[in-house]
Amino acid sequence: MSDKPLVGIVMGSKNDYDILAAAVEILRALEIPCEARVLSAHRTPDQLFAYVEQAQARGLKVMIAGAGGAAHLAGVIAAKTLLPVLAVPIAATPLNGLDSLLSMVQMPKGIPVATLAIGKPGAANAALFAAEILALADPKLHERLAAWRAARAKEVLEAQLPS
Ligand code: RP5
Repeated sequence: MSDKPLVGIVMGSKNDYDILAAAVEILRALEIPCEARVLSAHRTPDQLFAYVEQAQARGLKVMIAGAGGAAHLAGVIAAKTLLPVLAVPIAATPLNGLDSLLSMVQMPKGIPVATLAIGKPGAANAALFAAEILALADPKLHERLAAWRAARAKEVLEAQLPS
């Protein structure tokens, strides 16, 4: 596989990276080239538009967007591209991510955003979902994904409880 990024991860603040790192970790484990950018829908809208407008031509296949608060980032990205957009709500305000979750999951009809769970589980699942999309056209990735899932099942079955 070439090193050209296939997944673009965008976060609204560098403070979101702690959460999005869970996505990067899984993409790396599955040998899926990715890139990460800090771009905000409200603080750097022009730069966000420029990045998203070039995304597909640069070879990206899936976008992951993580943001907290009134999280319009994923919806704005989805409005500017036909690439699938996976959204990760982040707990960044006293509403603990519920604000972000609702902003992402309640996209009006016509511009879909596939929204995962709040926080690190959602970031990890966004990476796995991206892998599933890419695996449709990549049998070797399909094998790596199947092996990853089998390893998780093995961990559960071999779990030792305190006696
Ligand atoms: C959103 O506002 C970001 O995605 C972040 O989760 C939240 C707070 O941003 P910072 O004040 O931490 O930069 O745009």
